[in-house]
Amino acid sequence: MKNNRILLIGLAVILLIVIGLLAIPDMGRHHANMMGSMASMDPASTTVMEDDSPEAKAFRQTCTQCHGLPSPGQYTANEWPLIFERMKQHMIESRIAPPDEKAAALILEFLSKHAGQPST
Ligand code: HEC
Repeated sequence: MKNNRILLIGLAVILLIVIGLLAIPDMGRHHANMMGSMASMDPASTTVMEDDSPEAKAFRQTCTQCHGLPSPGQYTANEWPLIFERMKQHMIESRIAPPDEKAAALILEFLSKHAGQPST
């Protein structure tokens, strides 16, 4: 009788540990830690963070999967499409779904709207 109870408690403890482990989010899934050093990329301005437009949301969602939020002012409107294509390659290589046409258009719109000014 007493042995049975100890066994039951033991099982309960093991069950709790298993549940606890399952609850830990899958850290490596999006290579979130792969580029810890890049988290120190130019911090995006607070206006980018607070912008509630669909363009800003698409940008934040797509572009923070591998590194910190890039600052749109970092490149000019002419340069962004090239960077964007390179990022899409990274996504394909990392098996992260690249944005669909609609999301891609939103992101590029956002980037060009907030892009840096070309230096003359
Ligand atoms: C699949 C992972 C991944 C995603 C998603 C991603 N990037 Fe990147 N990004 C990288 C990697 C890897 C590098 C470093 C190598 C490089 O520069 O190509 C990088 C570097 C950068 C750089 C610095 C490179 C430079 O030449 O200045 C910028 C800016 C950038 N990403 C912007 C973006 C934007 C904007 C998005 C969203 C459209 C995005 N990233 C989404 C992986 C990603």
